[in-house]
Amino acid sequence: MSENHDRAAWLAGPGASCRADEPYPERSYRMILLGAPGAGKGTQAEFLCARLGTCHLSTGDVFRAAKCMSGGLSPAMQTAMEYMQRGDLVPDVIVIEMVRERVSCLQCNYGFLLDGFPRTVAQAEALDEMLASKGVKLDAVLSYELSVEEVVARLSGRRTCRSCQTTFHVTSKPSQRDGVCDRCGGELYQREDDRPEAIRVRMAAYRESTAPLEEYYNREGLLVPISAEGTPEEVFMRTAEALNQRLG
Ligand code: AP5
Repeated sequence: MSENHDRAAWLAGPGASCRADEPYPERSYRMILLGAPGAGKGTQAEFLCARLGTCHLSTGDVFRAAKCMSGGLSPAMQTAMEYMQRGDLVPDVIVIEMVRERVSCLQCNYGFLLDGFPRTVAQAEALDEMLASKGVKLDAVLSYELSVEEVVARLSGRRTCRSCQTTFHVTSKPSQRDGVCDRCGGELYQREDDRPEAIRVRMAAYRESTAPLEEYYNREGLLVPISAEGTPEEVFMRTAEALNQRLG
């Protein structure tokens, strides 16, 4: 992710303003990242944001950030946490309202990479309506494809920074010091929903509710399928080529 975008308006919601010291990019990209849990959406978002100057807008990050904020959780956020810990999808009404409160992020001149939203057809329809009301058009929906075995290997080895949310992997991307984030020195932990029982629930929710979005965006002519096999760098090369072909 671009070092200079702190995404405060996205993570903290209405009232917060972002610190972003870079000039706006010449072209702003507006894209969605689709793919199973653990396919590498967050990892590719980091590469893409560094290359394109875009903001990484992850709904999962908003929920995790809310948990760490002082002042206690609202009832809606409390409910969201319960669903999330089990690996279930948070109810549409909560997620859609949370994104609606942050709609200014969808108009930002840095552009956006939506990661983890939409996740159901109802969320996709709500997003279409929000974008249309602001006169904003999507450029592409990048859909990362990965085998179930590899998804499980990636999720079970993932470690996440409590402070800045940067992700590592015990074998494919280890931190330099065990348990310590390379970027900010924060503590690395294993997400509760990266336990085997929760992974099974997340995969089932993905197949049932999120996979149909491939067809949804295919019909809209926006879907760009990308194999997520191989190293993060190889996947990024594939992503850059696919984007080049599609958007020039
Ligand atoms: P969210 O945070 O969105 O999680 P997710 O979609 O399950 O995706 P992940 O963050 O698990 O995986 P990723 O694809 O980003 O993979 P990563 O790059 O980290 O959502 C969490 C929960 O919040 C949901 O279950 C739900 O409860 C709730 N929620 C959020 N949004 C919602 C919505 N819209 N509606 C309803 N509920 C919602 O990579 C994974 C690991 O693999 C890392 O360790 C990484 O280092 C490693 N890795 C990545 N790429 C490679 C590679 N090429 N080779 C080897 N290792 C790799």
